[in-house]
Amino acid sequence: MASPLFHRKTVDRILREADRPEHQLKRVLGPLSLTALGIGAIIGAGIFATTGTAAAGDSLRVGAGPGLILSYFLTAVACGFCALCYAELASMIPISGSAYTYAYATLGEFVAWVIGWDLILEYAVGNVAVAVSWSGYFQDLLRGMGIEIPKWLATNYNNAIQSPELLSSAPHIFGIPLFINLPAVVIVAAITTLLVIGIRESSNFNSVIVAIKLVVVVGFIVVGAKYVKPAHWQPFMPNGWTGVLTGASLVFFAYIGFDAVSTTAEECRNPQRDLPIGMIASLIVCTILYVAVTAVLTGIVPYQELGTAEPLSTALRLIHLNWASGILSFGAVIAMTAVLLVFQMGQPRIFFSMSRDGLLPRKFSTVHPRFRTPHVPTILTGVAVAAFAAFVDINSAVEFTNIGTLFAFILVATGVMVLRYSDPSRVRPFRCPWVPVIPVLAIISCIVLMGYLPWVTWLRFIGWFLLGIVIYFLYGQKNSKLRAQERTEAGANP
Ligand code: ALA
Repeated sequence: MASPLFHRKTVDRILREADRPEHQLKRVLGPLSLTALGIGAIIGAGIFATTGTAAAGDSLRVGAGPGLILSYFLTAVACGFCALCYAELASMIPISGSAYTYAYATLGEFVAWVIGWDLILEYAVGNVAVAVSWSGYFQDLLRGMGIEIPKWLATNYNNAIQSPELLSSAPHIFGIPLFINLPAVVIVAAITTLLVIGIRESSNFNSVIVAIKLVVVVGFIVVGAKYVKPAHWQPFMPNGWTGVLTGASLVFFAYIGFDAVSTTAEECRNPQRDLPIGMIASLIVCTILYVAVTAVLTGIVPYQELGTAEPLSTALRLIHLNWASGILSFGAVIAMTAVLLVFQMGQPRIFFSMSRDGLLPRKFSTVHPRFRTPHVPTILTGVAVAAFAAFVDINSAVEFTNIGTLFAFILVATGVMVLRYSDPSRVRPFRCPWVPVIPVLAIISCIVLMGYLPWVTWLRFIGWFLLGIVIYFLYGQKNSKLRAQERTEAGANP
């Protein structure tokens, strides 16, 4: 008999549990709203912020230069392989919980725990990065209106230690200079409050946000295109393939979110057909936009000038289009608020599923008596995200998110192959083509992208991974409901 670590919830059991009337959600989403949902979750800090560092490089990373256009394209291909794998699992097990649930069915409880633990990096740490980027564009917007927040109240230590002027202007406590990214804290606190009270992100609200995102991004392409000087594209790859792939490992962040579409499986009218359409269509739309934005961005100013936290508005200002820069900052703030909302809502739901399975304390799956929301994990997520957003720099958060998400994608691709082998006759409304070629390509491309992340990110990831394992053995393993049930069944049928 297999080790209890690898005990799996059968697909039938998962579907049965989700089928209980008290757990049923309304099925209202079609292919168009799913694509819109994907675009809503995808376009955010990745394109608005990380593009700058990825193109220009900094003290820790070499820049891709205009070759970032290639980085965006290659990353999209990698995400495409992963999306096909996600699509097969999502259409086969069309219930919420995303990769965590799929892993429970395919690779067993321990791997499911590892994925759930790992998804904290995608959702919560990802939101730390988005909140920091939000703060940057928000300050840009205020600056345009003549309002300047004192620097020490709107930056982090990493930025501050590079500027002696900033260091001396900050207030000191016991000789230590004080810096805090207050706007990032405030936006996370505001969103957490909304989520506890129970804002329901309606499809209509999402459509408005997606329209704003598209207008801002397409507007940037159209307005900026007139100012492109092809000479700026030379040299195209100043740091060769190392630059391009390092850039790709950073801008991978810009594509995260297509997988969030799969978490709505229980709310789709026809998940089998529409989930793959939603994921792949949103990925294609975003790829076209990202490649065009990057081509224009690196074409209007020399790429070396883009190393700021707000590269798109910086570029517009450098070509003296201050009005356009203001509109862009406004749009970016709205766009990133929406991303914050999606991920800040997703994280507690994953905690909720894990707690329902007994892998996290029961408190995580209690519902507020008045607001009917999972208030405990929502508040916990809010406090943790705000605390980190107050102090960390965006690139560290982005890279930590990327390594965790890439690892989760590897496990999903593995799951597709395992399930084809262990459960070959189950109906697969969407079949990933060319299995095992596509899953293997997904795994290889994720490993390549992970390989270009800095060693410090690897160290953090290994530390996080080990911490997760300790918690599983101290808590999850002992409290798992699946195990308790199996023990009871074994007792009844000795
Ligand atoms: N893809 C999302 C963003 O770029 C996470 O903000």
